[in-house]
Amino acid sequence: MCGIIGIASNKSVTSNIINSLKRLEYRGYDSSGVATIDDNTINEKKCPGRVEELEKLLFNSPSSGNVGIGHVRWATHGLPNQINAHPHSSELVSVVHNGIIENSENLKQNLEKDGYKFKSQTDTEVITLLLTKFLKKFSPLDAVYKTLEKLTGSFALGILFREHQNIIIGARRGSPLAVGYSNNENYLGSDSYALKSMTNKISYLDDGDVCVLTKDHIEFYDSKKNKKNKKVLILSEDKNETKLGDFKNFMSKEIFEQPFTSSNCINEYIDKIRNDINIIDFPLNPKKLNKIVLIGCGTAYHSCLVAKYWLEELTDLNVEADIASEFRYRNVKFNKSNLYVFISQSGETADTAAALELCKKNNVKTCSIINVVESTIARSSDWVLPIHAGPEIGVASTKAFTGQLLVVYILILKIAEIRKNINRKIFLEKISNLKKLPDLLKKSLKSEDKIQIFAKDFIDAKGSMFLGRGSSFPIALEGALKLKELSYLHAEGYPAGEMKHGPLALIEDGLPVIVIAPKDKYFEKTISNMQEVIARGGKVLLITDKKNEVINENIRFKLEMPYIESLLNPFLTTIPLQLLAYHVALLKKCDIDKPRNLAKSVTVE
Ligand code: M6R
Repeated sequence: MCGIIGIASNKSVTSNIINSLKRLEYRGYDSSGVATIDDNTINEKKCPGRVEELEKLLFNSPSSGNVGIGHVRWATHGLPNQINAHPHSSELVSVVHNGIIENSENLKQNLEKDGYKFKSQTDTEVITLLLTKFLKKFSPLDAVYKTLEKLTGSFALGILFREHQNIIIGARRGSPLAVGYSNNENYLGSDSYALKSMTNKISYLDDGDVCVLTKDHIEFYDSKKNKKNKKVLILSEDKNETKLGDFKNFMSKEIFEQPFTSSNCINEYIDKIRNDINIIDFPLNPKKLNKIVLIGCGTAYHSCLVAKYWLEELTDLNVEADIASEFRYRNVKFNKSNLYVFISQSGETADTAAALELCKKNNVKTCSIINVVESTIARSSDWVLPIHAGPEIGVASTKAFTGQLLVVYILILKIAEIRKNINRKIFLEKISNLKKLPDLLKKSLKSEDKIQIFAKDFIDAKGSMFLGRGSSFPIALEGALKLKELSYLHAEGYPAGEMKHGPLALIEDGLPVIVIAPKDKYFEKTISNMQEVIARGGKVLLITDKKNEVINENIRFKLEMPYIESLLNPFLTTIPLQLLAYHVALLKKCDIDKPRNLAKSVTVE
């Protein structure tokens, strides 16, 4: 998963390319590069590290040119070094690529037999050399089609041609690609976010499409090289939500935004006058539903797991929750009476998008719960329920998680009401409890001081465990995921009842163990599991709520979250876990918004 930008203009493009690459860093940040055409030469500049490094390189050795491409990389083939950074150029072309060429080894061997020499370990260089070979006989557009015929895998490309200096060709198979329109300037980008600082007029390429752009014209072709027209979409206004304000980093800003984003979301979905839920246009009649299948990756998968507990508690429906990368290759038995619900912040996650495509091929109804409404997944789903959280920039998902939980909970309440699984009185009670959530989230954020102290226990820890039962189990998984991705510390999320089946062997003197035990039907059981941990030397942080009085002097810390009806506990118990991961990472001086080896949007499988 990498970021692509291309600009054809009547003025020098380098500084706009750099600005767009900075916006694209959420897709990958291990190296970056830019290529422009000037004076009949391809100027390629690239280096490992952040876009800032590229900016310094260009400051010392400027590149000019009115047509150019740029790239931020998240390494798949080959180390993140200067040679493997994109663009990959030959004497005739320069290429930036997002995705994976699955048959690159075979293609490489054939090209080597033809005498072509490879400089990098990337899969992308085969594209550069195939184009170079075909350009000896064909026009740029034909050379691109000839090259595409040879490639298997999923990719988006941006290509410059030394002998056709005013054009950029873009091609899309699997990985998303958009174009943007302006006066005397046109753009190519991995997504609308990359282009938003320059234009609000965009079109998305469909799978298999190729586009040829110059500064004043864009042409589109389908996979068979037939010309086609594209709808121009007008993007909604950016409301400056991407500014840091007084916060040190985006993650802390996004954690502390949760009372506001949840209130925003509740206002979008709850009709306060009718005390009802504004969800209509179900693609399937909820009364006739057979099963709900929830699919996502990472944090979004944890939202699916929480939803599974809620659906089983509130409705008579069958439920399944699956990880997208597993779902897409399982031998799933599709059923037209099932609703397939996809949860994704970015809406660009390759595995989730592929699982959605599989559902579409099998003619079943799909719904996406999404933050980025212009995304690939949103555009492909039968039904879209936005979470209204605003842009989430930190790689670790925080406000999007609570947003996903909110929307899926509201959807479940509505389904439960329509199916008469809950009566009007209970429905109204649940809505009224939901409305209390933003204030209670605000109170939960006050746990920060205590969390900061507990975080110190992690500095020398070898690892940690997060335990919970019921819907606190996915919250334990989420807490562990946040800690690993931000602080690079080993963390395991486990159902508390499973400890005795093996993981209890990991408990030793001083191991930090976080136990999530609000006063719900699992409470006593989880507390017994906690005692087993304490008896073996575990240093416990108990996260519970005010309605209980667990006294155990061997608990290192007890955090009391505000009391709320038990179904809503996951919203509140996840807050201290986000803060914990954040503070441990701060103490360990890790990069909070861009943890190593990761990217915000995972557009490769
Ligand atoms: O954009 P998505 O919600 O589809 O992303 C899914 C995961 O990649 C994402 O939640 C990831 O696990 C986060 N970095 C976790 O904080």
